Amino acid sequence: PTARRGRECEQLKIGGIRATELTAKHGSPLYVVDEDAARTRAREIREALQTEALRIGTEATVYYAGKAFLCVEVARWMAEEGLAIDVASGGELAVALAAGVDPARIGFHGNNKSEAEIARAVRAGVGTIIIDSEIETQRIAHAAAAAGTTQRVRLRVNSGVHASTHDFLATSHEDQKFGQPLRDAPRLVRGILAHESLEFVGLHCHIGSQIFATDGFRESARRLLGTYRELAEITGADIPELNLGGGFGIAYTSAQAEEAPAIAEIARELADIVADGAREHGIAIPKLAFEPGRAVIGQAGVTLYTVGTTKTVQLAESDVAGDPADLGYSERLYVSVDGGMSDNARPALYGADYQVRIANRVSDAAPALVRVVGKHCESGDIVVQRDVIPGDVRPGDTLAVAATGAYCWSLSSNYNYMPRPPVVAVRGGTSRVIVRGQTEDDLLAQSVMVADAIENGD
Ligand code: LLP
Repeated sequence: PTARRGRECEQLKIGGIRATELTAKHGSPLYVVDEDAARTRAREIREALQTEALRIGTEATVYYAGKAFLCVEVARWMAEEGLAIDVASGGELAVALAAGVDPARIGFHGNNKSEAEIARAVRAGVGTIIIDSEIETQRIAHAAAAAGTTQRVRLRVNSGVHASTHDFLATSHEDQKFGQPLRDAPRLVRGILAHESLEFVGLHCHIGSQIFATDGFRESARRLLGTYRELAEITGADIPELNLGGGFGIAYTSAQAEEAPAIAEIARELADIVADGAREHGIAIPKLAFEPGRAVIGQAGVTLYTVGTTKTVQLAESDVAGDPADLGYSERLYVSVDGGMSDNARPALYGADYQVRIANRVSDAAPALVRVVGKHCESGDIVVQRDVIPGDVRPGDTLAVAATGAYCWSLSSNYNYMPRPPVVAVRGGTSRVIVRGQTEDDLLAQSVMVADAIENGD
């Protein structure tokens, strides 16, 4: 009995609650966010960046990039931990405002904000709107003039740095949709100054996402600062701010743990570059701004699934040849769970890696090479590409996939009419729903019924 108790203690707990208790209460699949982990990380990142800014004689604002995962509760946590919020659509703006975030501490992004979204942001008193194209300069100026206000704006530029990450996640080389080439900044800033309803506060550059090597961030900061003297001559005053975006990578697997950059290190290196650049160009050190999303919330999230079926597939030489990690295994155990690419699109979209463990029991069974797959009708519907876990994993087991806090719920879909799972926050042994899950009825209600259509004369 003692041994048995000991083993039960090893069942996975999140925020002090057993995974099995969470699924029993809230269902499966289930997104779980550890509130303390999210808050602690938010605070650590903010403090690291602000401490380094202070060291070089300036300040830093840290925006939480809401696209990673936003709901009213998370926006509130971030505001309480001293972060501002970056939103990228009218919907995200509505969530931040509903959470009571001070509008002055909201930054509004996007390469195609609608006139209605811009007008709403201006009227709400959003702190800064990031201009992504010349057309937007006109639109924002017009909206601000109509509202009888002056809108603070940043100009988003491409520094031309090609960050070493997945192609879809790199955003500051020239041939992609975001921002304007850095060399056009002087002309665009003149365009902004032509409008009395706009106040230009500085440049913005986000070089990409899930970046491990810090040299891209440094090079980008260096290039941006290289234009600040010329821009100051155009505006007639020091350029007050510099926003270096987000993109700090995190470890999704234990293999990545060594490589992921420590935030303190990034903060120090960036502060040094900014201080050196300002000295070199004879300009005042601007206030800094950053926009991390993934680094704040990614590792605070876990997704729980229930195993439905398993099957073993023999591996041919050719199957493992291209995949050195599979060498040594003659078979692969496919483990199908009750979710998939609808709750985590990242493996299908970016070939993202995750790790899994059995959460409801401890097993001494011999390890097996597993691939966790979802229940959608696509062979690319993979949750965990490759991991090694006890080979007796079986129907009814609860599986926990780590580091699903960023870009999982926010990229989720209803593919195959799968309802979105709820998100629960756990803290100090209690859990509460912070985003309601969908039911089949919710999805069915969106489908116009033939009878209704006839009634409506459609
Ligand atoms: N600022 C801007 C302007 C951005 O476009 C982004 C991310 C961020 C900040 C936050 O980046 P982070 O610190 O989270 O890396 N769906 C992809 C990531 C797309 C990132 C889009 N923009 C993924 O799941 O990996």
